Amino acid sequence: MSANNHGEHDDLAQLGPLLTTARLGRVHEHHEQLGSTNDRALEWLAAGAPDGALVTADAQTAGRGRLGRPWSSPPGQDIYASVVLRPGAPSAAFGSLALAVGVGLCEGLSAVFGDQLPGLALKWPNDLLLDERKLAGILCESRWRGREVELVIGFGLNVHREAEQFEPTLRPSATSLALHLRPDQRVGRAAILAALLHQLELELERFFAGGFAAIRSRYESRCLVIGRKIQVEQPDGQRIAAVAIGLDDDGALRAQPPDGGPSFRVQSADVWLS
Ligand code: BTN
Repeated sequence: MSANNHGEHDDLAQLGPLLTTARLGRVHEHHEQLGSTNDRALEWLAAGAPDGALVTADAQTAGRGRLGRPWSSPPGQDIYASVVLRPGAPSAAFGSLALAVGVGLCEGLSAVFGDQLPGLALKWPNDLLLDERKLAGILCESRWRGREVELVIGFGLNVHREAEQFEPTLRPSATSLALHLRPDQRVGRAAILAALLHQLELELERFFAGGFAAIRSRYESRCLVIGRKIQVEQPDGQRIAAVAIGLDDDGALRAQPPDGGPSFRVQSADVWLS
């Protein structure tokens, strides 16, 4: 049992017996508090962490999101996790890794909650949404060792947080599992993380063997953005209107101006649903 009031299998330090993976999480460090699980995983990677090594924390004091944004990480509510991967020489499609991670996390949540989360979807490139509010984010970072790439995959998932536990600026756009589930449907963080790692491991195997093509249909079937009007954020912060018309073979988003002009690729910009 967990030491808090979130029920059985909530204690991330007790993940081991729940694991069904072959690689991910088999070596695991849990911390009550860290600056950032990604920072700790990168440090561990440099010191020789094995493939699949996992870092979790109950709280982060310097949780990081994409583009240097902070990731809200209060104690004991959510999942903050980072996994070390040593895939060897990268495939051409390695830039779309975050899309594979998104599919794995979505499939993991579906394995735990079945049809209890009908609003669960992926927002290109690296967000999980519930009813169009942000539930989880993914931060992939890489280092090179000669010709081989070493990766850290970090993800934060809002699990138990009630509305008032989000910072006021996040309340309109963020959500948690607790806000969408009845108390009797809730599941502890360690049980959820074990299921996420199981599905993530399967999805990563497919991705490293076959690139984005191997996960494309599962990504597209869960992706909320395709066919929708979007705003694409430019480097100067300005947003331009477009329609998301599909994904290129490397996972880049293809968008078209509303006047029907030539389509263009969106590779790393933020997009917003209109
Ligand atoms: C984003 O949406 O911009 C990505 C957010 C990623 C947050 C997670 S929490 C665990 C790991 N450690 C970090 O510092 N960041 C990632």
